[in-house]
Amino acid sequence: MGTAFFCDLLLAIKNILFYNYILMNSKVSVIGAGNVGATIAQLLASENISDVVLFDILEGMPQGKALDIAEACPVWKSSASVVGTNDFADTAGSDVLVLTAGFPRKPGMSRDDLLLANADVIRTVVKGTSGLSPDSVLIIVTNPMDAMAHMALDESGFASQKVLGMGGILDSARLRTFVSMELGISPKDIETLVLGGHGDQMVPLIRYTTVKGVPITELLDRNRINSLIERTQNGGAEIVSFLKTGSAYYAPAASTVEMIRAVLYDEKRLLPCSALLDGPYGISGLFIGVPVYLGKNGVEKIVELQLTEGERELLEKSAASVKDLLSVLKK
Ligand code: LAC
Repeated sequence: MGTAFFCDLLLAIKNILFYNYILMNSKVSVIGAGNVGATIAQLLASENISDVVLFDILEGMPQGKALDIAEACPVWKSSASVVGTNDFADTAGSDVLVLTAGFPRKPGMSRDDLLLANADVIRTVVKGTSGLSPDSVLIIVTNPMDAMAHMALDESGFASQKVLGMGGILDSARLRTFVSMELGISPKDIETLVLGGHGDQMVPLIRYTTVKGVPITELLDRNRINSLIERTQNGGAEIVSFLKTGSAYYAPAASTVEMIRAVLYDEKRLLPCSALLDGPYGISGLFIGVPVYLGKNGVEKIVELQLTEGERELLEKSAASVKDLLSVLKK
């Protein structure tokens, strides 16, 4: 028996301890058992990331989906517990609360058209859950996400670094996908950053778009790049126009799970997330997508990039559109 055997043995012991005694103690409550919420629950369970409580107001629906996911766990070799409920009490003591509840958009609607209807939903679910999980990190997916994150912060009374929104990872993933399709290469090697609000005015940063470090401008001409940016800005609407009855959920769920994992594993990943800005980028009192270090305390640090004049103008425009939504909510 060589050293390799003992290394494998140690690794196996570490994995058993890690999965059974550390990870399985984590609890994630997913509020809203629609397509996004249920897909997040599925990924958390199949990847053995945490126990899951799936909440919805529709009777039977979260119970049915959760049981279905639980019944897949033996096949996935996952020991995650997955429970569906209509009772906020079952979410108590969560490490992460994920808000997906709300109305999805229909063809022809922008994310902003959902503002008033979803504001009521967010108020209700934050009121119902935040006090039961006072130490949790709150991740908002419901649209219009930046404005909803702001409401969730106000309603929960949480420290601002514990409240963040999912948008930039999804928008960046879409741009990475489109670049990979254009170049006929793996998306794995493509990096990018999309900042700003998760709306039509989002700001894809071409300077930070690379293939294994090679600037995209060396691989594609400006017209092609512009059309990929435009497709990214319309990425959500493109899916809605295909589905007709709702919006995207596989990529939004995968992006949300990347954030949950960063929090539960205290990864301190550099990820574009919507965070409350109070000064950086010359913006104050607004949730906007920026690069942050994400760890167990939520937003551990906001990273302020040196933007060009043009990039800064686009970010300000995007911030102004989020501000408009907030002023409608405050009326
Ligand atoms: C989208 C929704 C999740 O971009 O905002 O598809």
